[in-house]
Amino acid sequence: MVLNKKRRNTANKKRNLITFANPDSIISEQYRTIRTNLYFLNSDKQNKTLLVTSPGKQEGKSTTAANLAISMAQQQEKVLLIDGNLRNPYIHSIFKTSNAFGLTDVLIGSTPFEEAVYTSSIERLDILTSGKIPNNPVELLASQNMKKLLQKVKSLYDIILIDSTAILEVTDTKIIANICDGVVLVVKQNKTNIESAIETKKVLEYARAQIVGVILNNKK
Ligand SMILES: Nc1ncnc2c1ncn2[C@@H]1O[C@H](COP(=O)(O)OP(=O)(O)OP(=O)(O)O)[C@@H](O)[C@H]1O
Ligand SMILES: [Mg+2]
Repeated sequence: MVLNKKRRNTANKKRNLITFANPDSIISEQYRTIRTNLYFLNSDKQNKTLLVTSPGKQEGKSTTAANLAISMAQQQEKVLLIDGNLRNPYIHSIFKTSNAFGLTDVLIGSTPFEEAVYTSSIERLDILTSGKIPNNPVELLASQNMKKLLQKVKSLYDIILIDSTAILEVTDTKIIANICDGVVLVVKQNKTNIESAIETKKVLEYARAQIVGVILNNKK
């Protein structure tokens, strides 16, 4: 199946993309600071695949992943943003693109990566949306094909950001955490409680994941 790239590329007004709409704003500057801090933490460039997750739902994972991806692309990095939330995918909505093909299609082998990925209108930013919602997300994410895909994209991009489900909700993200180089944890002010944050840290340690940064998202 050949992807209609043109149709998917037409979106220009993007939701929640302050880094795109207003790159000079204070918030965009804060995303740049986060990105810079991540680079200092990972100056040996070992952390190429970064998982963006949070303890619970609706704490700002997708918004953070999208804005960080843009911020990194604006700073000359070749970035791939993958929607690894196969239960409640949102990246295609943020970028207002089709989700007809994506990660799940690549993992089941029905669509090659090159056809499922799309080049966004933001220079150096490619996006792999979730694809069709599967009934076996854990199995797909734990598959050899997922490992192979990450290996492949590591050679094509400077950085790969993966949006995900909440770590304390389902097993999916623990699996991805285990095969990613680092984890960026998003916690929300006045929402994430300290117990959940501690539990998340334990779960990630158990999955042998390395937390490379914590972002305090303060949506009221
Ligand atoms: N810093 C922020 N300022 C304003 N709105 C925000 C902020 N962060 C998130 N939001 C809004 O909050 C809602 C939830 O954010 P988002 O979808 O990024 O969370 P999530 O953790 O990915 O959710 P889910 O667990 O469903 O995947 C969205 O409508 C988003 O636009
Ligand atoms: Mg999300």
